[in-house]
Order: sequence, then structure tokens, then C-alpha cells
Amino acid sequence: MPTATGRNFIGGRWLESDDVVNDTDPGNGDVIGTLARATAADVDTAVEAARSATAEWAGTPAGARGSILRRAADELESDADEWARLMTREMGKPFSEARVECVRAAAILRFFTGEAHRPYGENYASDAAQTWLFTRRHPVGTVGIITPWNFPAAIPAWKLAPALIFGNTVVFKAADDAALTGLRLVAALERAGLPPGVLNAVVGPGSVVGAAIAEHPAIDAISFTGSTETGRGILETASRTAKRVQLEMGGHNPVIVRADAALDSAVAAVALGAFASAGQKCTATRRVYVARELYDEFTGKLVAKATNLKIGYGLDEGVEMGPLVNDVQLQGVLEALERAEKEGQLRCGGKRLTDGQYARGSYMAPAVFTELPHDAEFACEEVFGPNVAVWPVDGDDEAIDLANRTKYDLSAAIFTRDLDAAKTFVERIQAGIVHVNSQTAGAEVHVPFGGLAGSGYGPHEQGRAAIEFYTQTKTVYLDPAG
Ligand code: UN1
Repeated sequence: MPTATGRNFIGGRWLESDDVVNDTDPGNGDVIGTLARATAADVDTAVEAARSATAEWAGTPAGARGSILRRAADELESDADEWARLMTREMGKPFSEARVECVRAAAILRFFTGEAHRPYGENYASDAAQTWLFTRRHPVGTVGIITPWNFPAAIPAWKLAPALIFGNTVVFKAADDAALTGLRLVAALERAGLPPGVLNAVVGPGSVVGAAIAEHPAIDAISFTGSTETGRGILETASRTAKRVQLEMGGHNPVIVRADAALDSAVAAVALGAFASAGQKCTATRRVYVARELYDEFTGKLVAKATNLKIGYGLDEGVEMGPLVNDVQLQGVLEALERAEKEGQLRCGGKRLTDGQYARGSYMAPAVFTELPHDAEFACEEVFGPNVAVWPVDGDDEAIDLANRTKYDLSAAIFTRDLDAAKTFVERIQAGIVHVNSQTAGAEVHVPFGGLAGSGYGPHEQGRAAIEFYTQTKTVYLDPAG
């Protein structure tokens, strides 16, 4: 029985639609709700609603804007169990991970509440006598926000919160596969007192609704997280109307394990980085380069961990890995792994699980590859599932050169107890986020997050970095003498 309806939220009203699709639980095939999808014309209406709310919202004191975010954060945090259950049912992530994400989303809202009262703008000495010379930050206007299904609470929070606190209005599209989770955040902001039109949500496929947002001449900026291919398409479309664009796209994140590493911690961190959320993170660990003398032991332990992982329905006690988000995604992953099997050694998993409870969902066993050529498709292209490849390396230079091979420079980690080696790695690795002795995934709320090269475009997200994208600078020359 459907339990929830995801509707469009435009101009402060929740709207029905003629185009309704089912929202299905990937863990058991149950229909958990419906989504009323928007048309391109609905996007027009949402943009109009946002534009007409822009002046008043930009003129609302930042502290008052912050109070709304704080109230929403309080509600979402006290509702974290329910919100997390919805997330698990909608996209499969185990409840324990989903709950951490919901609490994190509330923390993100609170951090940006604080941005209302942190300094922004700069003062300068002027070359002209008497003149006060300073910069001010202003909202960009109406921002289009397009988010993926893999972090359906945290990513909307880390885009919506800065957009709103800095005085922008928003047209928001959450991915169909986890739209109900995203809409719960919208509903909390509505209940917290956000004025009508400031935040509008449209539901539907990227090809219709996302494209309409990217094309719309009255949208000033777009922030997108998702695949590299879609991100580049958005950039191309958005450039026709000279929009400001921020993209968070694919990742192919390496880990180096040196001979002096604490082996068991390294194995645990690689397993977590590769298999948590069924590997469906742009920050997931995909490639591991292990000092040759540790290679056999490391690989054996990683394969044992992967094989013993408790896979099951995300709401069941003790489950460590749930299903993939849907069958299409699962099929794509399995096909990529089949191609990889022709080039290297599949050491475990990599196949669909079909027995018993698995029969009704999109489950697979996590895969570990060895002996793949460094230029194999799997070693270069992101396969968005629970899979990782391991290679032996001889020395730091080889390890870092191999780690730097791919075009996605998002996150990277090294496991070592040697400070010099850590320093060299931090300096030479091409990545927006660098870890020493911790897993590649994860992002604290108050620091910049983002990739370089094929992974990110535009200013980084989160922390104080968010102000770069969500505001524009005015330089003011003020002669108080008149
Ligand atoms: C994390 O590693 O906790 O889509 C966050 C993604 C990233 C977010 C990762 N943009 O996977």
C-alpha cells in the first residue's frame, strides 16, 4: 500500500499531477509511495514563484532567515528515526547509515544558521582620501538545485541551507529514487516558517525537469551533484544563459597502503570506503595500491571482509550492506563487472544475490578484483556499486603516479605511520580531499568539500566555501563626506 505521496511544492502549495509513478523499495519491491511528477510548465511556475519571492527574502535579516533553518534542524533531528526509515525504504541504505546521515543533515542546517552571524565582506584602505572601501556579499538570485539519490538528506541540506541563508530563492529537484526523503526536508522548512515561493520543489526525471531548470533563463545559478555525463550536459545548457554553475560529479578514489601501515585499520577503512552504502558514493574507494610485501596479506583480509559482510534488508538488525538503489543500476554494475572479469581476477562476489529474501530486491555481493591492467575500464571509469580493485606497488613514486592516473580527482587516502611519506602524498596527490589514515568517504560539515579535474567544477561546497557560490560580491567606494 502506498504510504506517502511526493508532490510538487510551488509558491507555498503542495500540488498534484496527472503523471504519477510508484516509488519502490529496492530491498523488497514494495511500493512505498507515489511521486506526482512535474512538467516543464510546472518548472516555469516554480521559477516565477521563486522570482517573485526574491526581493523580500533577500531583504529579510540574516538572523531571521537563520531562525527558520534552526527550527527545521530541530524538527528533523527529533524526527531522525522516521526520516532515516524512509530513506532506507526508498533507496536501500542500512538504517544505521541513514540515521547518521539524517543527523548530519540537521547539523549542516545548524552550521549554516551560524553563517548568518559570521563575518563576510572585506575592508580595504583606499588610495583616495576619506573613502571607505569595502566589499559586500549579495544573493545570486534564484538558484536551481539538483541532487542525487545516494545522500538524499545530506546533499539537499548542504545545498539548500547555504542557498537560503545567503538570501537566494530556490527551485529544487531531488532524484526520483529518493524524492520523498528530500521532500521531507522541504516540508520541515515550510513548517519552520519559510515564506511561500522562497523554496519550490519539483519532482520528475532529469531529462524533463532537470533540463527545464538548466535551460530556464530566469534561473541565475545551478548547483548539481550526480554523474559526470549529466553534469557536463548541465554545464553546456546553463552556459547558453551564462548561469553560474557548481558541479559535484564522479569519483575514482585511490588508497595507498604503505609497508609501515597499520594493516588491519587499513583493511577496515578500505572495506568501509568501498562497501558502505553499497559503494554508491562519489567518495567510495575504488583502487587500492598496496606495498608488494603486504599485498597478499592485505588482499586476503579484504576478500575475507567482503565475503563476511552481512547483506540484507536495510531495516533488519545488524545489516551492513543493503541493496543497490534499483535494478537498472544493479544491471549496469553487473555488466561492468562482467567486462572486468575478462581482464582481471574476480576474487569474490560481483554477482546478483537471488536466494530467499534477496529474490525480491536489487542485491549483489561485494566484489574485489586483482590483476587488472592499470588501463582496464574498471581501473579508470567509475562503477557505482560495491566493488574495488587491488594492485601491488613498489615504492611511493609508483603508488602516487598510479593513484593520479584517473581523470576524477575527488578524494584519496594513504595509510602510513611515516610523516615524510604522508607529507609527500598530501603534496603530490591530485585530489580535492586528502586523508591520512582514514577512509576516502566522509565529509565534515564545516570544511570545504569538492573534487578537482573531472570530478568538480566551480567553487567547493560546504563550510565557509559555500559563500563563494551562493553570493556575489559588490565593491563599494563610499566617501562619507559627500
Ligand atoms: C560522503 O562521503 O560522506 O555524492 C559524502 C556523493 C558525494 C558526497 C559524499 N557528493 O557521494
